[in-house]
Amino acid sequence: MHAVGIVAAAGSGLRLGADRPKALVPLGGRALVCWAVDALRDGGVSDVVVAVPADEHAAFATVLPLDVRLVAGGETRTASVRAALAALSDPAQPITADVVLVHDAARPLTPPEVVARVLAALEAGARAVVPVLPVVDTTVVVGDEGVITEAVPRHSLRRVQTPQGFDRDCLVAAYESLDDAGVDAGALTDDASVVRAAGVPVATVEGHERAAKITVAHDLAVAELQVRT
Ligand code: CTP
Ligand code: MG
Repeated sequence: MHAVGIVAAAGSGLRLGADRPKALVPLGGRALVCWAVDALRDGGVSDVVVAVPADEHAAFATVLPLDVRLVAGGETRTASVRAALAALSDPAQPITADVVLVHDAARPLTPPEVVARVLAALEAGARAVVPVLPVVDTTVVVGDEGVITEAVPRHSLRRVQTPQGFDRDCLVAAYESLDDAGVDAGALTDDASVVRAAGVPVATVEGHERAAKITVAHDLAVAELQVRT
């Protein structure tokens, strides 16, 4: 089984509010995207394609290793991953792989064992697999007035992380069929949602708190503490 990694790094990071695209924000002195690429490589995925903001190609090329391929991302995460998937099949530089792991640049400290668990599930025959963690807080639905309307039983709820692993042909076909499925592609926030829209069952493996996504400033502060310990 040969795996290729796609890192989604083309977002702007509005909620983090930094002076540069989120994937270029430093953590322990290195850009988040560099940590994310290393996470895949440490877990056993050597070929990596990174989707970057179209106008930031040079800045990303400066910080990333030479053997990482860069492609221009799109307006939404879905569009960025779609562009990276297309690059795998670029006739000028095709990448041989039967499985694809899609990872967020915003999850820099993902431990290699999470990557290994995703690969093992694919090796065992899953066509799609995501790392998940339980929801630990009491979880509710709040109405327009800010008043709780419903409590949600949390035993079956999970928080979904990346990297998410897929049979390559399955993922490509799911992205191709998105437009016909009548789904609002821009509203999908991960790749498992894309294959689920195509009717593919998605398996789960155990995620890790260190694979948490950096979204707001507090998350970056926590990650800074983690890299120091
Ligand atoms: N992403 C992407 N292309 C986009 C939007 C997001 O590749 N058009 C990537 C981000 O770079 C990030 C991952 O998808 O690594 C998860 O998205 P999120 O945490 O929402 O990052 P941003 O969209 O950059 O942040 P925000 O929503 O706060 O602007
Ligand atoms: Mg976003």
